[in-house]
Amino acid sequence: MSARWVAPSAADAERLPPEEVFAAGERNHHISNTAYPIAHDVTWRPYRVTRTRHASVLARAYEGIDDLCLYAHVPFCEVRCSFCEYTVVQGQDLKATDAYMDRLEKELDLWLTLLGRNTRTLHGFDIGGGTPAFVDAVRVARLVEKVHQGFRQASPSAERAGPSGYGISIETTPKIAAAEPEKMRALHDAGIDRISMGVQVIQPDLLRVLNRDGNGAELHRRAVDHLRDAGFCRLNLDVMYGFADQTLPGVEATIAHTLSLAPEYVTLYRMRYKLTRISHQAPRVKLDDVRAQASLAKAMLKSAGYAATPGKNTFSRIAGDVGTSEYLTRRVIEGMPYLGIGLGAQSFTHTTISYGDGAVGKNLLPYFRAIDADRFPLQDLYELPLVQMMAKFVAVSFYFGEIDRAAFHAKFGLSVDEAFPREVEWLLARGLMENTEHTLRLTDEGARHFNGVIALFFAPSIQRYLLDRDPDVAKDMLVRTG
Ligand SMILES: C[S@@+](CC[C@H](N)C(=O)[O-])C[C@H]1O[C@@H](n2cnc3c(N)ncnc32)[C@H](O)[C@@H]1O
Ligand code: SF4
Repeated sequence: MSARWVAPSAADAERLPPEEVFAAGERNHHISNTAYPIAHDVTWRPYRVTRTRHASVLARAYEGIDDLCLYAHVPFCEVRCSFCEYTVVQGQDLKATDAYMDRLEKELDLWLTLLGRNTRTLHGFDIGGGTPAFVDAVRVARLVEKVHQGFRQASPSAERAGPSGYGISIETTPKIAAAEPEKMRALHDAGIDRISMGVQVIQPDLLRVLNRDGNGAELHRRAVDHLRDAGFCRLNLDVMYGFADQTLPGVEATIAHTLSLAPEYVTLYRMRYKLTRISHQAPRVKLDDVRAQASLAKAMLKSAGYAATPGKNTFSRIAGDVGTSEYLTRRVIEGMPYLGIGLGAQSFTHTTISYGDGAVGKNLLPYFRAIDADRFPLQDLYELPLVQMMAKFVAVSFYFGEIDRAAFHAKFGLSVDEAFPREVEWLLARGLMENTEHTLRLTDEGARHFNGVIALFFAPSIQRYLLDRDPDVAKDMLVRTG
C-alpha cells in the first residue's frame, strides 16, 4: 500500500532492551494490554494535529481507502456499572435518545460527504455502547438503513455475513432483552445478525458492589429465550474476571451458568481498572489470582467445546467462525481502517487515529454542538509514524493472540521479523511466541505473560512510559470525571 507516515519523534527513534520492556509490561499489568496507546494525550503529543488542519489531514488520510468498517457509539445506560470503562451517559441524558440519534445520522452524513456516498466498501458494522438496545428499535433500524444506502456492500461471505452483505452486531443488557422481546425481534428484522449481552458475574453481592444488581442471573434465561425467538443465532455472552472481590469458585460458577445458556460465543474480559469508578481497587488485584481465574475459565470453555487460540478472549463453538463481529475481526486480522461515529468514538486510517468529543467528559453537549455546526466532533486527531501504526496493529492483533504475517506485510511493506527483529527473536527463544503457517502466535506460556509480551511491540515512547512508571504511585489509573 502507498500510505505515507510522518517522521517519528526522538522518543520513538530509541531501541529499548527486550528484557527490560517485558519486565515493565508485567509490572504494569493493569495497563499494558490491547488498549493501545497509553496516555495518548501525553505520549502522542508530538503527533497531535491542530484543529485548523483537521479537515485537510482527514481528507488525505481517507484518500485511497476503499475498504472499511463502521462503528456507531450509542452511550445510553439505565445506570452506570461501577466497573465500566466505556463512554456512557445516564440520568437526565436518557431523555435525549432521539436528539442523539438525529446527530448520529447527521454525523454519518458529514462523513459520507467527505468520503463520497457509495464510494467505499463496508465490511462490518458494530453498534456498540453503552447499551444501543436502550434506544427505540425504529431509530436503530433507520440508522442501519442509512448506512446501507451510504456504502457499497462487501459480498456476503457464506456463514458469517448478515442479510445486508456485511455483518452487523449490536449490544444489549440482560434486563432489556428480558423485558422487551418485540424490540429484540425488531433489531433482528433490521438486518442485525449478531448480538452481545453482558453476563459479567452472577454473584449477587458482587453485582451489588458493581452497581449492576438489576441484571442478575435470574433474568438471563428469559433474555436468551427472547433473543432466540427473535431469530438471533449468533449470540455472544460477556464474562468478566479480575475483580478485587472475585473468588475462583465465583468464576467457576459464572462460567458454568454461562455455558448453561448455550451461546455460540463467550468473550472473557479481564477487568481493566484504568479510569473506572473502582480504579482504587486495582492494587488489591494480584496477577497470580488473575492468571488462575483466566486458566480456569478457559479450561472450562474448552472442555465444553468452545475454541480459541492461546491469548484470544472470544471463544466460539461454531467451526470456522472466530466468534467476533465482522467489524472487530477485520480490524484484528487485517488492521482494516474503521470509521467511528458518536460520542467519544475512535476512528482509524492507515496513518491517523482520532478520538471523538465526549470520551473524557461523558457529556453530550459538545458533541451536539459540533454536529449542529457541521463540524467533525473530534477531540484529538493524531498523524502517526510507521512505528506507532505498527504497534497499534499488533496491539489490536493481540485480541486474537497472533499476528497475521501476510496482513502485516501488505499494510506496512515489511515483515513482522523485519519490523521487530530483536523482539521476535527474544520471544521465540523463550517459547513465548511461535511461528504457525500464517501467523506469529502466543504460546500458552506467552498468553500467561500477555502483558509483558505485548509491550515488546509497543513503540519506544510508550515502552519508555512503562519503564518510567511506578505502578504503586502512578495516578494515571484514577477516574478523572463521570
Ligand atoms: C460496551 S459493554 C456493553 C454491554 C452491555 N451494555 C451490558 O452491560 O450488558 C461491552 C463489555 O465490555 C466489558 N467491560 C466493560 N467495562 C470493562 C472494563 N473496565 N474492563 C474490561 N471489560 C469491561 C463488559 O464485559 C461489557 O459487557
Ligand atoms: S457495562 Fe454495559 S450497562 Fe454497564 S455501564 Fe457499561 S455499557 Fe452500560
